[in-house]
Amino acid sequence: MNDEKILSAESITRELDTRFIGQRIFYYPSLTSTMEVARQKAQQGAAEGTVILTDEQTAGRGRLKRLWLSPKGSIALSIILYPGINHLPSILMLASLAVVHSIESVTGLKPQIKWPNDVLINDRKVCGILVENDLRGNTVNHTMIGIGINANLRISDFPEVVSVATSLSTELGREVSRFNLIKYLLIEVERLYLVLTAGGSVYEEWRDRLITLGRNVRVDTGEAIYEGVAESVARDGSLLIRSTNGSMTKVVAGDVTLPE
Ligand code: BTN
Repeated sequence: MNDEKILSAESITRELDTRFIGQRIFYYPSLTSTMEVARQKAQQGAAEGTVILTDEQTAGRGRLKRLWLSPKGSIALSIILYPGINHLPSILMLASLAVVHSIESVTGLKPQIKWPNDVLINDRKVCGILVENDLRGNTVNHTMIGIGINANLRISDFPEVVSVATSLSTELGREVSRFNLIKYLLIEVERLYLVLTAGGSVYEEWRDRLITLGRNVRVDTGEAIYEGVAESVARDGSLLIRSTNGSMTKVVAGDVTLPE
């Protein structure tokens, strides 16, 4: 099936039999960043599950204050949630699992998760996830899950990322339906979120799907670099690295390189 040139918020919502995720979608042909608009909507009291969706971002935000390339053909969306503070660590896990499940179901490709939540195919990044929280003390004002998927991009057109990134269309040799992928993704986010709020856990599946564990890693936190074996992940999502001198370091956020 050919990709749709633009996404229609109405048609996605019409076909979604979710309780709340995606029941309100704000679609924009072009935006600076869906995170920016999601923050404004959340501050105005948007309903839980409200989605901000765009065909193109001009100032997409990545983790660790980087820019995120988000040209036409990609998927860029943010989802507004109001979870309890105890669920915050799981939101990151839930998001990467929902992406992996939806890519698998819609394309048949086999994505992997690199800690903390990069989604890769054949060791190249196909999706980035950014979770931003607005907290007041121990109260969550709102949380936003930002998901950027390289869907229908000719990755060779982007020399700045060609060595580390891929796209679904590059891997498949044909375009994917962004419409189907978004629908599936929103259904999965809701399903996993309901698992959490019902007292269940997404930690075990996320841990078991990480390609990072048991490997030699180099982690750049922006402030320090740690090297060693990625031994495990804690329930709060942090990575435990055993260095050659036997000491253990707990890293909350960073960029992992997996040497050959
Ligand atoms: C990463 O650095 O891996 C995270 C990238 C997150 C990109 C998505 S695209 C939708 C949302 N809006 C943004 O500006 N960023 C996130």
